[in-house]
Amino acid sequence: MPPDIPPVEERAGDGTPGYEGGGAGAEPVAPGPPLVLQPTFPIRTARLLLRPLTAADTDDLLEYRSLPEVCRYVPFLPMDRAAVAQKLEHVWARTEITGEGQGVILGVQVVETGRLVGDVNLFLHSREHRSAEVGWVLSPHHSGHGYATEAAHAILHLAFDDLKVHRVTARVDARNLASIRLAQRLGMRQEALLLQNEWFKGGWSDEIDFALLESEWATQHREPAATP
Ligand SMILES: CC(C)(COP(=O)(O)OP(=O)(O)OC[C@H]1O[C@@H](n2cnc3c(N)ncnc32)[C@H](O)[C@@H]1OP(=O)(O)O)[C@@H](O)C(=O)NCCC(=O)NCCS
Repeated sequence: MPPDIPPVEERAGDGTPGYEGGGAGAEPVAPGPPLVLQPTFPIRTARLLLRPLTAADTDDLLEYRSLPEVCRYVPFLPMDRAAVAQKLEHVWARTEITGEGQGVILGVQVVETGRLVGDVNLFLHSREHRSAEVGWVLSPHHSGHGYATEAAHAILHLAFDDLKVHRVTARVDARNLASIRLAQRLGMRQEALLLQNEWFKGGWSDEIDFALLESEWATQHREPAATP
């Protein structure tokens, strides 16, 4: 289960030469503008800056990504300095999405303190279906202030309003109650409960799938009609 951004070659459904999907005679790719994300950084929210991670973030990243409690329901293991450096150099170095199978991870920095407190990610699953997935990780030292919600809301904004996807999903371990509450706060809709669908860290785990459609996002964020 995300959040983490595996290298392209580890993901199913991408990189298949000539694959466009769709049946014979069907429109092969859902219509819409090109799926490209090239944000201007930093992205500012009420209390946060979202921006690419750099080597200068290593200590802050280690402070939470090295903790077993943070890694309990996510695919990655507690990281050491070498693992963080390797990620920063490769998978986390991407700052734009120009094609299927690509993702970005953004550091979440509190404006007031300058501290990096977490990271959020966005992954473009399918060009054909205009679908993406989001994920979030927050330092337990900074939880309970709504920072993860604020950052995840900004990443949904990037997904729908900039990348222009049709559908965004979030996959959450059914035991991860804080993450479930976060998805609900974001207005994401629970679509599925998959029982024992993954052998995960030594046991079968249940997964809850959340989703949000472009149309639902637009409804949630529609400006109130101007009153005469
Ligand atoms: C999932 C995770 C990001 C949630 O962190 P969090 O601190 O609960 O989330 P937020 O920063 O949005 O804070 C929300 C909490 O602060 C409270 N809060 C306080 N001020 C708030 C504000 N201004 N806005 C929103 N919530 C606020 C909320 O009520 C909520 O508390 P509750 O869940 O007890 O009701 C965090 O537990 C985590 O990183 N876990 C480990 C990694 C992980 O499992 N990631 C998810 C994989 S799918």
